[in-house]
Amino acid sequence: MKIAWLSDLHLVVPGSDLPRGVDPAHRAQLCLDDIRARHADADRLIITGDLIQLRHTGAYGLLKELLEDMPMPAKLLVGNHDDRAAFFEVFPHMPHELGYVQSSEVVDGHQLIYLDTVADDGKHHGQLDSVRLQWLDKVLSQCDCPALLFMHHPPAMVGIPALDKMRLNVGDQALNEILQRHKHRSIHLFCGHVHRSLSGTWGGFPYAVMTTPHVGFALDMQQHKLLPADEAPGYGVIQSLDNSIVVHTQVSSGFGSSVFVR
Ligand SMILES: [Fe+2]
Repeated sequence: MKIAWLSDLHLVVPGSDLPRGVDPAHRAQLCLDDIRARHADADRLIITGDLIQLRHTGAYGLLKELLEDMPMPAKLLVGNHDDRAAFFEVFPHMPHELGYVQSSEVVDGHQLIYLDTVADDGKHHGQLDSVRLQWLDKVLSQCDCPALLFMHHPPAMVGIPALDKMRLNVGDQALNEILQRHKHRSIHLFCGHVHRSLSGTWGGFPYAVMTTPHVGFALDMQQHKLLPADEAPGYGVIQSLDNSIVVHTQVSSGFGSSVFVR
């Protein structure tokens, strides 16, 4: 099984001012071109939320256009910048459960679970209430194969104060209790939101966070405001090999120059 993984596109309505002078659509396109050229055999393209910049709901149409040429099915999650109602207007066939942008499927012997962690109060932190948690508990009971759980907000502290304030901090303990009930399965979490690639364990479960094609956040472990980082657009590739799961981060080719290019 192979998955191409993008996160945090932050697309804006065409013609608007570009955040920090960077065109998110151009950078997303570079990554998508790369994925199409190198990983057309991926079973899925998964985008873990913040598909658009806050209030740029017209940019869902742009996303639909960007995805039209992709050879693999796309699964989209929402993040704190997204708008569920506007999302479903443009992507009415995207699976959903109980009004949330969440679903589950088995692909090549792996259960892929897409979980909606957007807070009900519209704030930037993540939330899981009893409705979403009960649904997760139910789908985790449905099979015994390895589970890959995709969600926008990481439940873990990552050591960057500005982001730790906005992690999944409502329902995180209950989430861990549910995962513990199913720990006979291999469960791996995959998150966005941090605009940096990192990995670790949370409450005994491995997790990975993928960088963004858009503007990254600096590895600043002191300040309480988010600082941008001048980094190249990137995406991830997840692959199951034998009895393992490997997560690669790839900087988009076609961005800047390389000493290795002749
Ligand atoms: Fe984001």
